[in-house]
Amino acid sequence: MALKRTHTIQELSTRMAGQPVVIAGWVNTRRDHGGLIFVDLRDRSGLVQVVFNPEISKPAFELAERIRNEYVIAIAGTVRIRPEGTVNPNLPTGDIEVYASELELLNTAKTPPFYLDDNIQVDEILRLRYRYLDMRRQEMKNNMMLRHRVIKSLRNFLDERGFLEIETPILTRSAPEGARDYLVPSRVHPGEFYALPQSPQIFKQILMVAGIEKYYQVARCFRDEDLRADRQPEFTQLDIEMSFIDEEDIMELTESMLVRAFADGIGREISVPFPRITYDEAMKSYGSDKPDLRFGLLIQDLTDLLQGSEFKVFATAINSGGVVRAINAKGCASLSRKEIDELVQLAIDLGARGLAWIQVTEEGMKSPIVKFISPEDLEGITSRLEAKPGDLLLFCADFEDTVARVLGGIRLELGKRLQLIDEDAFNFVWVTDFPLLEWDEEENRYIAVHHPFTSPQDPEQLESSPQTAKARAYDLVLNGTEVGGGSIRIHSRALQEKMFALQGLTPEEVADKFGYMLEAFEYGAPPHGGIAFGLDRLIMLMAKRDSIRDVIAFPKTQSASCPMTHAPSSVRPEQLKELNIKTIIK
Ligand code: AMO
Ligand code: AMP
Repeated sequence: MALKRTHTIQELSTRMAGQPVVIAGWVNTRRDHGGLIFVDLRDRSGLVQVVFNPEISKPAFELAERIRNEYVIAIAGTVRIRPEGTVNPNLPTGDIEVYASELELLNTAKTPPFYLDDNIQVDEILRLRYRYLDMRRQEMKNNMMLRHRVIKSLRNFLDERGFLEIETPILTRSAPEGARDYLVPSRVHPGEFYALPQSPQIFKQILMVAGIEKYYQVARCFRDEDLRADRQPEFTQLDIEMSFIDEEDIMELTESMLVRAFADGIGREISVPFPRITYDEAMKSYGSDKPDLRFGLLIQDLTDLLQGSEFKVFATAINSGGVVRAINAKGCASLSRKEIDELVQLAIDLGARGLAWIQVTEEGMKSPIVKFISPEDLEGITSRLEAKPGDLLLFCADFEDTVARVLGGIRLELGKRLQLIDEDAFNFVWVTDFPLLEWDEEENRYIAVHHPFTSPQDPEQLESSPQTAKARAYDLVLNGTEVGGGSIRIHSRALQEKMFALQGLTPEEVADKFGYMLEAFEYGAPPHGGIAFGLDRLIMLMAKRDSIRDVIAFPKTQSASCPMTHAPSSVRPEQLKELNIKTIIK
């Protein structure tokens, strides 16, 4: 490279008019305009128009005739204020241009397989295969820059609060977080495997035993689970653990930290403290443990009212221990029969046996079911749901968890359809008082709702009524997405052993899997607790994207593969032999 860059494009301004500069980057576009060639040159910081005039430099002009999109060039030239009428208000450098006196071709480029525009409608597999081209788009660069700013802000904040960033192993024995492990075979120990961490959970607790008191880590986590838009097989957590604290400390820390991160990341003020809702209340009113608080349409319980209802569907559900709940879809009485049928179908897809409905009109209640419901019950329903002419009432009768799932899903669908969601809003909520355990029918044992290291609110309940015991656990939800979760931990060996036993682990299994942790607890474990945030999710929401893949440089596809490197891939037979591994599928 003969020309040495003196400025990035962002640094150019009208104040530099007349000044010589050398800039370098990629050809964004090239236009021939009768005797003049205009090139929009792009570097990481932005775009600027470069003008080639044969009267200024013939060799530069002739070379410019041959350059194509995405060629890499350097130019020496002079900054000029654009002539009146040619200013481009859409470009930060739209009021200047660079008059080129020298052009150096640094590299050629093949024609890209897709246009490098923002808002492109390009197959994502293609974008991921050519991620280096995809990332040349401003939108993707902005996402990467946002990610950088947010992580830097989080680190600054935690550093100021006295936290130490400590790395924990990637080759380890995993802490159970409920997903399948990624395994790495050991060459030195034939037949044995490391697991990649699903999170640094046990290590961060052991760091508390080690007296670190305030730990954090920007930690890569690995989980072999079914992927969705907000799930990747490897993702990044901001992982935090503290000693001598309670729930309030974690919440205060989180809120202050996020105020700072939103200001530094996207210049937004978010209001704190965040509201709190118990798990039970969230499930009842929103049908979800990650309630989207950007709109209302709350679910209402009618079970007490409809006890002994003449309508068989309601009565049967209640008599067999279930509930009847409803949503008043305000102003939706005018939905067509086809639209209502679509809602019914959605309910059935979500596991309902049906979705009864009533249209409230000036002429009265319209519905296939009103004839089965007594006038008193209709009265009661109308008043509880505050039903007015124009409303559509949607009912689900079933066991509580089914009703929550169904009406929770219907609520979200209505929120979207009725455009009730303020897309600009950031609505945080803490979900608290989670159940400690849930009964797993398939495995015929309790499993921890959060993870097995979470402290019960009342340890006595582990003996008396484990099924109703609550956990000292909390999740942070933003706009209906779980962005973080944590708990106050168990720090006594005896209680931890009791928890493992409740979850059906034998003392031998406990000793094998968690012996080292229990041993550590016998050497003065302080009371401690923590939280982990899904950084990809948080940044996705800040960037107003729908997929965490847009804020990860090199993500995997839905089928956990990488279209660029073609990972995963087969390996040489010698490699397998060395690892004492035989594959049964070729
Ligand atoms: P948890 O399993 O809830 O807690 O994970 C914490 C947060 O990580 C994010 N997350 C994911 N993001 C992208 N892809 C995934 N596959 C994925 N899985 C989880 C979520 C979630 O809220 N060790 C505990 C934390 C603790 O108790 O301190 C843990 O990992 O945003
Ligand atoms: P059926 O008596 O099964 O024909 O149902 C009468 C109406 O009640 C239909 O509109 C069904 O969609 C609805 N329905 C059936 N089962 C349920 C249920 N479990 N919860 C709510 N509505 C239901």
